[in-house]
Amino acid sequence: MRIAAEFVTSAARTTDFPRDGLPEIALVGRSNAGKSSLINGLVLRRVARTSAAPGKTRLANVYRVLRGNDPWLYLVDLPGYGYARGGSEFEELTRSYFGRGARSEGDGLEPVSVSAWLVVDARHPGLASDRQAWAWLGQAVPDRAVVATKIDKLARGHRIRARDELESVFEESVTMVSSVTGEGLDELWKLIDRAASSRKPEPQRSRRHNNSSPLPKGMAPRPLKR
Ligand code: GTP
Ligand code: MG
Repeated sequence: MRIAAEFVTSAARTTDFPRDGLPEIALVGRSNAGKSSLINGLVLRRVARTSAAPGKTRLANVYRVLRGNDPWLYLVDLPGYGYARGGSEFEELTRSYFGRGARSEGDGLEPVSVSAWLVVDARHPGLASDRQAWAWLGQAVPDRAVVATKIDKLARGHRIRARDELESVFEESVTMVSSVTGEGLDELWKLIDRAASSRKPEPQRSRRHNNSSPLPKGMAPRPLKR
């Protein structure tokens, strides 16, 4: 199936984010949890920078992705938390990012449809910082999901235990994935497809954003086969 992805922008403040009404899924999680790798795993190429050193993603990086015949959707790679130097970036940018829907009422901009994925390391279920982030997302975002990554680092038998622990901590079903082996990523694409299709485009917008509309020069996504 065709997968396309392109880098859109690095956002340092609320006004830097695109506001054209496309749905957004934001990746929230500890530094080094594997958020940027997850984006690369999903789109089958390295659009996002990753690093073994925590704190790699300091700004919010926005990517536009699509699969098959679905409409475009934004994946937003937010700065990680739990890393001394990155702490304030996470707080400020994340708060203002999720808060912008409320502030925009009546300002003439498109409403924002935002979901959040809490990305956690499958080897460390129930860390206090992840629980706090999950609780915070509960009051900030209408739609949230937990994605546990790096399952390739767990023996098969341990994966089931890890999933059980995670699901009891977050009281939600958890998608178990590996950005290295690609396991579970199809499940995530289904979440993306659902979010992408959730917004019924107005005729004008569908002309602007349908899959065949040309992208700005130099930004045309390279189609990829899965
Ligand atoms: P920040 O940008 O600091 O917030 O981190 P991040 O959440 O974006 O993490 P990143 O994707 O940069 O990954 C951190 C490290 O974990 C890198 O060394 C990745 O190669 C590794 N990693 C990420 N996902 C996986 C995975 O699924 N399996 C394995 N084995 N390693 C992974
Ligand atoms: Mg990152």
